Amino acid sequence: MKHRFELVYSMDTTLGCAVAAYLDAEHYAFLHSKYSPQYEVLHRQGRTIRIRQRWTQGHVRIGQTCTTEYAPPARFLNYDIAGVPVWLPSVHHLITTRTELFYYPDATGERTISHLVVDLELPAIFSPLLPKLEQRMTALKQEKDLEDMEMIFRRERLFGRGNIRGYLADYQFMLHKDDFVRHFGTPEAERRAGELALAAAPPTARREHVRELGV
Ligand SMILES: [Fe+2]
Repeated sequence: MKHRFELVYSMDTTLGCAVAAYLDAEHYAFLHSKYSPQYEVLHRQGRTIRIRQRWTQGHVRIGQTCTTEYAPPARFLNYDIAGVPVWLPSVHHLITTRTELFYYPDATGERTISHLVVDLELPAIFSPLLPKLEQRMTALKQEKDLEDMEMIFRRERLFGRGNIRGYLADYQFMLHKDDFVRHFGTPEAERRAGELALAAAPPTARREHVRELGV
């Protein structure tokens, strides 16, 4: 059976900062050490990257591989998720997960809407597990986004709101940097990126009266 759920909230930051935080893969191991102490790129083809994240549970090193795709300026897909090691019983043997994350500006243009669409496919017999699964995925996503907002606010205090110049600098590594620079490299490009993000937003997109992350 197929099951879709959506998770929508607003984040108190600009589109450029939200996208930069997503593409800044170097922060994963530090900021999200609980979930992703090890983050490796296995291979890359254009905007599609196969990644492996690993962590230790008890004495066993486990993790997952996942294909992640960037659709600039502000859409992110994750699919083909598999447990590591593959022989270890894992929820991914039973459930196929595909997520699509859309970022787009809210009605004021000052904040960013995070709009996650999750598509699950699982044998009907496991449908009673769905509410719990949905709850877990929602909690995890919010927890990670709150960690990201902490980083975003810290940068905001140092460099000012919406300042992404540090990310644009040559020495700063980020995934899909060329795309990021093209879409967010100038204020004009960033404004246009907001329009493109809105055009790519899902039909269920909302820009007003959206609850705030963590509230
Ligand atoms: Fe993050």
